[in-house]
Amino acid sequence: MTSTATQVSTILGQIDRTDKQPVLVYHSERLQCKLSEFLAGPFDQIFYPVKANNDPYVLREIGRKIPTFDVASLSEIEAVHPVVENAQYCFSHPIKDPFEILIAYEQYDVRDFVVDTAQELEKLSRLDADRLALLTVHVRISVPNAQALYPLDGKFGAADADAVQLLRAASALGCSVGISFHVGSQNMNPTSFHTAMDLAFRIAEWAGITVSVLNVGGGFPVPYVGDDEIDLLSFFFAITEQWQHRPSLFSNSELWCEPGRSLVAEAGSLVLRIEQRRGNMLYVNDGVYGCLHDGKFHGVVFPCRALWSRGGAAKEYFVLQGPTCDSADCLPYRVCLPSDASVDDRIEVRNIGAYGQVLATGFNGKHTYTRVVLTEAKVASEGVA
Ligand SMILES: Cc1ncc(COP(=O)(O)O)c(C=O)c1O
Repeated sequence: MTSTATQVSTILGQIDRTDKQPVLVYHSERLQCKLSEFLAGPFDQIFYPVKANNDPYVLREIGRKIPTFDVASLSEIEAVHPVVENAQYCFSHPIKDPFEILIAYEQYDVRDFVVDTAQELEKLSRLDADRLALLTVHVRISVPNAQALYPLDGKFGAADADAVQLLRAASALGCSVGISFHVGSQNMNPTSFHTAMDLAFRIAEWAGITVSVLNVGGGFPVPYVGDDEIDLLSFFFAITEQWQHRPSLFSNSELWCEPGRSLVAEAGSLVLRIEQRRGNMLYVNDGVYGCLHDGKFHGVVFPCRALWSRGGAAKEYFVLQGPTCDSADCLPYRVCLPSDASVDDRIEVRNIGAYGQVLATGFNGKHTYTRVVLTEAKVASEGVA
Protein backbone atom coordinates (compact mmCIF):
# COMPACT_ATOMS: atom_id res chain seq x y z
CA MET A 1 0.00 0.00 0.00
CA THR A 2 1.36 3.45 -0.83
CA SER A 3 1.85 5.92 1.95
CA THR A 4 -0.83 8.17 0.37
CA ALA A 5 -3.35 5.36 0.52
CA THR A 6 -2.38 4.62 4.11
CA GLN A 7 -2.83 8.22 5.04
CA VAL A 8 -6.29 8.21 3.51
CA SER A 9 -7.23 5.29 5.73
CA THR A 10 -5.67 7.06 8.70
CA ILE A 11 -7.73 10.17 8.11
CA LEU A 12 -10.92 8.19 7.52
CA GLY A 13 -10.19 6.20 10.65
CA GLN A 14 -10.39 9.41 12.67
CA ILE A 15 -13.62 10.69 11.15
CA ASP A 16 -17.01 9.92 12.56
CA ARG A 17 -19.01 9.08 9.42
CA THR A 18 -22.26 10.17 11.08
CA ASP A 19 -20.80 13.66 11.62
CA LYS A 20 -22.13 15.99 8.91
CA GLN A 21 -19.81 18.92 9.71
CA PRO A 22 -16.65 19.71 7.76
CA VAL A 23 -13.65 18.32 9.63
CA LEU A 24 -10.40 20.16 10.24
CA VAL A 25 -7.60 17.66 10.53
CA TYR A 26 -4.37 18.83 12.13
CA HIS A 27 -1.25 16.81 11.37
CA SER A 28 0.88 17.20 14.44
CA GLU A 29 4.10 15.90 12.90
CA ARG A 30 3.89 18.39 10.02
CA LEU A 31 3.61 21.27 12.47
CA GLN A 32 6.55 19.92 14.49
CA CYS A 33 8.56 19.52 11.32
CA LYS A 34 8.01 23.13 10.26
CA LEU A 35 8.83 24.38 13.74
CA SER A 36 12.11 22.45 13.63
CA GLU A 37 12.94 23.87 10.20
CA PHE A 38 12.46 27.42 11.43
CA LEU A 39 14.28 26.76 14.70
CA ALA A 40 17.26 25.51 12.68
CA GLY A 41 17.15 28.68 10.55
CA PRO A 42 19.15 31.88 11.00
CA PHE A 43 16.77 33.63 13.43
CA ASP A 44 17.39 34.69 17.03
CA GLN A 45 13.65 34.84 17.68
CA ILE A 46 10.58 33.58 15.85
CA PHE A 47 7.27 35.31 16.54
CA TYR A 48 4.24 33.32 15.39
CA PRO A 49 1.52 35.60 13.93
CA VAL A 50 -1.69 34.55 15.65
CA LYS A 51 -3.74 35.87 12.73
CA ALA A 52 -2.67 32.87 10.60
CA ASN A 53 -4.43 30.36 12.86
CA ASN A 54 -5.67 30.97 16.41
CA ASP A 55 -6.87 27.46 17.17
CA PRO A 56 -5.93 26.67 20.81
CA TYR A 57 -4.32 23.40 19.69
CA VAL A 58 -2.07 25.27 17.22
CA LEU A 59 -1.21 28.00 19.74
CA ARG A 60 -0.35 25.43 22.43
CA GLU A 61 1.82 23.31 20.14
CA ILE A 62 3.69 26.32 18.82
CA GLY A 63 3.97 27.85 22.30
CA ARG A 64 5.78 24.76 23.60
CA LYS A 65 8.68 25.49 21.24
CA ILE A 66 8.40 29.24 20.63
CA PRO A 67 6.37 31.11 23.27
CA THR A 68 6.71 34.33 21.27
CA PHE A 69 3.71 35.68 19.38
CA ASP A 70 3.08 38.44 16.88
CA VAL A 71 -0.34 39.92 17.68
CA ALA A 72 -2.58 42.41 15.91
CA SER A 73 -5.05 43.02 18.76
CA LEU A 74 -5.77 42.51 22.45
CA SER A 75 -8.13 39.68 21.47
CA GLU A 76 -5.21 37.78 19.96
CA ILE A 77 -3.23 38.24 23.17
CA GLU A 78 -6.27 36.99 25.09
CA ALA A 79 -6.43 33.91 22.84
CA VAL A 80 -2.81 32.99 23.59
CA HIS A 81 -2.68 33.94 27.26
CA PRO A 82 -4.70 31.01 28.70
CA VAL A 83 -2.94 28.36 26.61
CA VAL A 84 0.72 29.42 26.65
CA GLU A 85 2.46 30.15 29.91
CA ASN A 86 4.87 33.11 29.95
CA ALA A 87 4.11 34.04 26.37
CA GLN A 88 5.85 37.11 25.01
CA TYR A 89 4.17 39.37 22.47
CA CYS A 90 5.12 41.80 19.75
CA PHE A 91 2.13 44.09 19.09
CA SER A 92 2.56 44.50 15.37
CA HIS A 93 -0.57 46.26 14.18
CA PRO A 94 0.57 49.72 13.12
CA ILE A 95 -2.64 51.32 14.46
CA LYS A 96 -3.55 50.74 18.10
CA ASP A 97 -5.91 52.39 20.53
CA PRO A 98 -4.01 54.09 23.41
CA PHE A 99 -6.12 51.97 25.78
CA GLU A 100 -4.92 48.79 24.02
CA ILE A 101 -1.32 49.95 24.38
CA LEU A 102 -1.79 50.50 28.11
CA ILE A 103 -3.49 47.15 28.74
CA ALA A 104 -0.92 45.34 26.61
CA TYR A 105 1.91 46.98 28.53
CA GLU A 106 0.50 46.67 32.05
CA GLN A 107 -1.43 43.41 31.94
CA TYR A 108 0.55 41.39 29.41
CA ASP A 109 4.04 42.89 29.74
CA VAL A 110 4.19 43.75 26.07
CA ARG A 111 7.41 45.62 25.38
CA ASP A 112 7.56 45.44 21.57
CA PHE A 113 5.31 47.71 19.53
CA VAL A 114 5.28 48.41 15.80
CA VAL A 115 4.71 51.89 14.40
CA ASP A 116 4.75 53.35 10.91
CA THR A 117 3.60 56.91 11.60
CA ALA A 118 4.41 59.77 13.96
CA GLN A 119 0.79 59.61 15.18
CA GLU A 120 1.34 56.10 16.45
CA LEU A 121 4.64 56.96 18.07
CA GLU A 122 2.92 59.84 19.83
CA LYS A 123 0.53 57.33 21.45
CA LEU A 124 3.47 55.35 22.80
CA SER A 125 5.16 58.55 24.01
CA ARG A 126 2.30 58.99 26.51
CA LEU A 127 3.95 56.28 28.61
CA ASP A 128 6.30 57.67 31.25
CA ALA A 129 10.09 57.71 30.79
CA ASP A 130 10.70 54.59 32.92
CA ARG A 131 8.26 52.59 30.81
CA LEU A 132 9.57 54.02 27.55
CA ALA A 133 13.07 52.91 28.48
CA LEU A 134 11.84 49.30 28.48
CA LEU A 135 10.22 49.48 25.05
CA THR A 136 11.46 48.44 21.67
CA VAL A 137 9.72 50.48 19.01
CA HIS A 138 9.82 48.63 15.69
CA VAL A 139 9.52 50.95 12.71
CA ARG A 140 7.75 49.14 9.90
CA ILE A 141 9.21 50.21 6.59
CA SER A 142 7.65 49.97 3.15
CA VAL A 143 9.36 47.38 0.95
CA PRO A 144 8.53 45.99 -2.51
CA ASN A 145 5.86 43.26 -2.43
CA ALA A 146 5.76 42.58 -6.18
CA GLN A 147 6.78 38.93 -5.86
CA ALA A 148 3.98 38.05 -3.44
CA LEU A 149 0.65 36.39 -4.15
CA TYR A 150 -0.85 38.64 -1.44
CA PRO A 151 0.86 42.03 -1.45
CA LEU A 152 0.65 43.64 1.99
CA ASP A 153 2.14 47.01 1.10
CA GLY A 154 -1.15 48.73 0.30
CA LYS A 155 -1.70 50.40 3.63
CA PHE A 156 1.17 49.99 6.05
CA GLY A 157 4.88 50.73 5.97
CA ALA A 158 6.73 54.05 6.30
CA ALA A 159 8.44 55.50 3.26
CA ASP A 160 12.22 55.88 3.59
CA ALA A 161 12.38 59.52 4.78
CA ASP A 162 9.50 59.00 7.25
CA ALA A 163 11.16 55.85 8.58
CA VAL A 164 14.39 57.79 9.20
CA GLN A 165 12.44 60.41 11.21
CA LEU A 166 10.60 57.71 13.17
CA LEU A 167 13.81 55.87 14.09
CA ARG A 168 15.35 59.09 15.35
CA ALA A 169 12.22 60.13 17.22
CA ALA A 170 11.78 56.72 18.89
CA SER A 171 15.41 56.73 19.94
CA ALA A 172 15.06 60.27 21.32
CA LEU A 173 12.22 58.99 23.53
CA GLY A 174 14.71 56.64 25.17
CA CYS A 175 13.34 53.47 23.52
CA SER A 176 15.34 50.77 21.81
CA VAL A 177 14.55 50.73 18.14
CA GLY A 178 13.94 47.98 15.66
CA ILE A 179 13.08 47.82 11.98
CA SER A 180 10.42 45.49 10.59
CA PHE A 181 8.96 44.82 7.19
CA HIS A 182 6.75 42.37 5.32
CA VAL A 183 7.62 41.27 1.78
CA GLY A 184 3.99 40.18 1.17
CA SER A 185 2.43 36.81 1.88
CA GLN A 186 3.26 33.75 -0.23
CA ASN A 187 6.31 35.47 -1.64
CA MET A 188 7.95 33.06 -4.05
CA ASN A 189 11.26 34.86 -4.43
CA PRO A 190 14.04 34.75 -1.80
CA THR A 191 15.65 37.85 -3.26
CA SER A 192 12.69 39.87 -1.94
CA PHE A 193 14.19 39.43 1.53
CA HIS A 194 17.60 40.42 0.21
CA THR A 195 16.21 43.66 -1.28
CA ALA A 196 14.14 44.51 1.80
CA MET A 197 17.05 43.91 4.19
CA ASP A 198 19.27 46.09 2.05
CA LEU A 199 16.71 48.89 2.32
CA ALA A 200 16.47 48.42 6.10
CA PHE A 201 20.25 48.73 6.37
CA ARG A 202 20.30 51.91 4.30
CA ILE A 203 17.47 53.49 6.31
CA ALA A 204 19.28 52.80 9.58
CA GLU A 205 22.46 54.32 8.15
CA TRP A 206 20.63 57.43 6.95
CA ALA A 207 19.13 57.76 10.45
CA GLY A 208 22.48 57.01 12.11
CA ILE A 209 20.66 54.95 14.75
CA THR A 210 21.76 51.69 16.36
CA VAL A 211 19.13 49.03 15.72
CA SER A 212 18.40 46.32 18.27
CA VAL A 213 16.10 44.12 16.13
CA LEU A 214 15.66 43.50 12.44
CA ASN A 215 12.34 41.70 11.93
CA VAL A 216 12.04 40.26 8.41
CA GLY A 217 8.37 39.38 8.97
CA GLY A 218 6.53 36.56 7.24
CA GLY A 219 5.91 35.84 3.59
CA PHE A 220 7.64 32.44 3.36
CA PRO A 221 5.61 30.41 0.85
CA VAL A 222 3.94 26.99 0.90
CA PRO A 223 3.15 24.64 -2.00
CA TYR A 224 -0.25 25.22 -3.55
CA VAL A 225 -1.18 23.73 -6.92
CA GLY A 226 0.76 25.29 -9.80
CA ASP A 227 3.53 26.72 -7.63
CA ASP A 228 7.16 25.98 -8.31
CA GLU A 229 8.82 23.70 -5.82
CA ILE A 230 9.52 25.58 -2.62
CA ASP A 231 12.84 25.36 -0.88
CA LEU A 232 12.67 27.10 2.50
CA LEU A 233 16.45 26.85 2.77
CA SER A 234 16.91 29.14 -0.22
CA PHE A 235 15.02 31.81 1.74
CA PHE A 236 17.19 31.19 4.81
CA PHE A 237 20.35 31.39 2.67
CA ALA A 238 19.29 34.73 1.18
CA ILE A 239 18.58 36.13 4.65
CA THR A 240 21.78 34.73 6.17
CA GLU A 241 23.89 36.00 3.33
CA GLN A 242 22.53 39.51 3.72
CA TRP A 243 22.72 39.38 7.51
CA GLN A 244 26.41 38.55 7.33
CA HIS A 245 26.93 41.85 5.51
CA ARG A 246 24.93 44.01 7.90
CA PRO A 247 26.33 47.41 8.79
CA SER A 248 27.89 48.02 12.21
CA LEU A 249 24.69 49.75 13.45
CA PHE A 250 23.24 46.20 13.53
CA SER A 251 26.21 44.48 15.11
CA ASN A 252 24.40 43.81 18.41
CA SER A 253 21.06 43.40 16.75
CA GLU A 254 18.77 40.34 16.86
CA LEU A 255 17.26 38.83 13.72
CA TRP A 256 13.54 38.03 14.05
CA CYS A 257 10.93 36.59 11.73
CA GLU A 258 7.14 36.11 11.81
CA PRO A 259 6.20 33.10 9.66
CA GLY A 260 2.46 32.49 9.57
CA ARG A 261 1.48 30.64 6.43
CA SER A 262 4.71 28.67 6.22
CA LEU A 263 4.48 27.40 9.81
CA VAL A 264 0.87 26.26 9.82
CA ALA A 265 -0.57 25.85 6.30
CA GLU A 266 0.65 22.31 5.68
CA ALA A 267 -0.36 21.20 9.16
CA GLY A 268 -4.06 21.53 8.34
CA SER A 269 -6.42 19.68 5.99
CA LEU A 270 -10.13 20.15 5.54
CA VAL A 271 -12.32 17.13 4.98
CA LEU A 272 -15.43 18.04 3.01
CA ARG A 273 -18.55 15.92 2.74
CA ILE A 274 -20.48 15.80 -0.53
CA GLU A 275 -24.05 16.75 0.39
CA GLN A 276 -25.51 16.60 -3.10
CA ARG A 277 -24.41 15.94 -6.66
CA ARG A 278 -25.94 17.71 -9.67
CA GLY A 279 -24.10 16.63 -12.82
CA ASN A 280 -20.54 17.82 -12.42
CA MET A 281 -21.40 20.11 -9.52
CA LEU A 282 -20.64 18.80 -6.05
CA TYR A 283 -22.40 20.61 -3.21
CA VAL A 284 -20.06 20.33 -0.24
CA ASN A 285 -20.34 21.35 3.40
CA ASP A 286 -17.72 24.12 3.42
CA GLY A 287 -17.03 26.92 0.99
CA VAL A 288 -15.58 30.30 0.28
CA TYR A 289 -17.24 31.91 3.32
CA GLY A 290 -15.58 29.17 5.35
CA CYS A 291 -12.06 27.79 5.15
CA LEU A 292 -11.91 28.02 1.35
CA HIS A 293 -11.93 31.82 1.32
CA ASP A 294 -8.45 32.12 -0.20
CA GLY A 295 -9.40 29.80 -3.06
CA LYS A 296 -11.93 32.38 -4.21
CA PHE A 297 -10.47 35.70 -3.22
CA HIS A 298 -6.69 35.24 -3.49
CA GLY A 299 -6.15 32.78 -6.33
CA VAL A 300 -4.96 29.90 -4.14
CA VAL A 301 -5.49 26.49 -5.71
CA PHE A 302 -5.53 24.04 -2.81
CA PRO A 303 -4.38 20.47 -3.48
CA CYS A 304 -7.44 18.17 -3.25
CA ARG A 305 -7.95 14.42 -3.31
CA ALA A 306 -10.79 11.95 -3.02
CA LEU A 307 -10.99 9.99 0.22
CA TRP A 308 -12.87 7.17 -1.45
CA SER A 309 -11.81 4.54 -3.90
CA ARG A 310 -14.37 2.14 -5.29
CA GLY A 311 -12.08 1.32 -8.22
CA GLY A 312 -12.51 1.63 -11.95
CA ALA A 313 -13.85 5.20 -12.07
CA ALA A 314 -12.19 7.58 -14.53
CA LYS A 315 -11.25 11.07 -13.35
CA GLU A 316 -13.49 14.01 -14.09
CA TYR A 317 -13.43 17.75 -13.36
CA PHE A 318 -15.99 18.96 -10.81
CA VAL A 319 -17.17 22.35 -9.61
CA LEU A 320 -17.23 22.58 -5.81
CA GLN A 321 -20.26 24.51 -4.58
CA GLY A 322 -20.17 25.76 -0.99
CA PRO A 323 -23.04 25.38 1.49
CA THR A 324 -24.52 28.91 1.48
CA CYS A 325 -27.30 30.25 -0.76
CA ASP A 326 -24.93 32.73 -2.42
CA SER A 327 -24.02 31.65 -5.94
CA ALA A 328 -20.59 33.27 -5.44
CA ASP A 329 -19.96 30.48 -2.93
CA CYS A 330 -18.08 28.18 -5.30
CA LEU A 331 -14.43 27.64 -6.07
CA PRO A 332 -13.34 29.40 -9.27
CA TYR A 333 -11.41 26.35 -10.47
CA ARG A 334 -12.46 22.76 -11.12
CA VAL A 335 -11.25 19.88 -9.05
CA CYS A 336 -10.24 16.54 -10.55
CA LEU A 337 -11.89 13.59 -8.74
CA PRO A 338 -13.12 10.09 -9.59
CA SER A 339 -16.28 10.31 -11.71
CA ASP A 340 -18.27 8.13 -9.28
CA ALA A 341 -18.32 10.95 -6.65
CA SER A 342 -21.50 10.51 -4.60
CA VAL A 343 -23.35 11.88 -1.60
CA ASP A 344 -21.50 11.25 1.67
CA ASP A 345 -18.11 10.78 -0.03
CA ARG A 346 -15.31 12.85 1.49
CA ILE A 347 -12.77 15.13 -0.19
CA GLU A 348 -9.56 16.22 1.49
CA VAL A 349 -8.41 19.79 0.82
CA ARG A 350 -4.79 20.08 1.87
CA ASN A 351 -2.57 22.93 3.08
CA ILE A 352 -5.48 24.82 4.56
CA GLY A 353 -3.95 25.39 8.00
CA ALA A 354 -3.20 29.08 7.43
CA TYR A 355 -5.88 31.72 6.94
CA GLY A 356 -8.65 29.11 6.59
CA GLN A 357 -10.33 28.69 9.95
CA VAL A 358 -9.66 32.32 10.97
CA LEU A 359 -11.41 33.69 7.90
CA ALA A 360 -14.50 31.47 8.21
CA THR A 361 -17.71 33.41 8.78
CA GLY A 362 -21.06 32.45 10.26
CA PHE A 363 -22.80 33.25 6.95
CA ASN A 364 -25.99 31.17 6.53
CA GLY A 365 -25.37 29.62 9.94
CA LYS A 366 -22.73 27.38 8.34
CA HIS A 367 -19.01 26.87 8.88
CA THR A 368 -18.71 25.11 12.17
CA TYR A 369 -16.07 22.43 12.23
CA THR A 370 -15.18 19.23 13.96
CA ARG A 371 -11.50 19.21 14.84
CA VAL A 372 -9.33 16.12 14.76
CA VAL A 373 -5.66 16.07 15.70
CA LEU A 374 -3.58 13.36 14.09
CA THR A 375 -0.77 12.75 16.52
CA GLU A 376 2.27 10.67 15.69
CA ALA A 377 0.88 7.95 17.95
CA LYS A 378 -2.42 7.83 16.07
CA VAL A 379 -0.63 7.79 12.72
CA ALA A 380 1.73 5.06 13.91
CA SER A 381 -1.15 2.96 15.19
CA GLU A 382 -2.66 3.11 11.70
CA GLY A 383 0.55 1.75 10.27
CA VAL A 384 2.10 4.85 8.67
CA ALA A 385 5.87 5.05 9.01
C1 LIG B 1 2.84 41.90 10.62
C2 LIG B 1 2.68 40.55 10.02
N1 LIG B 1 3.60 39.61 10.31
C3 LIG B 1 3.50 38.36 9.81
C4 LIG B 1 2.45 37.99 9.00
C5 LIG B 1 2.38 36.60 8.49
O1 LIG B 1 2.67 36.55 7.15
P1 LIG B 1 2.74 35.15 6.38
O2 LIG B 1 1.53 34.41 6.72
O3 LIG B 1 2.86 35.54 4.97
O4 LIG B 1 3.98 34.46 6.86
C6 LIG B 1 1.49 38.96 8.64
C7 LIG B 1 0.38 38.60 7.74
O5 LIG B 1 -0.47 39.36 7.41
C8 LIG B 1 1.60 40.26 9.18
O6 LIG B 1 0.69 41.21 8.89
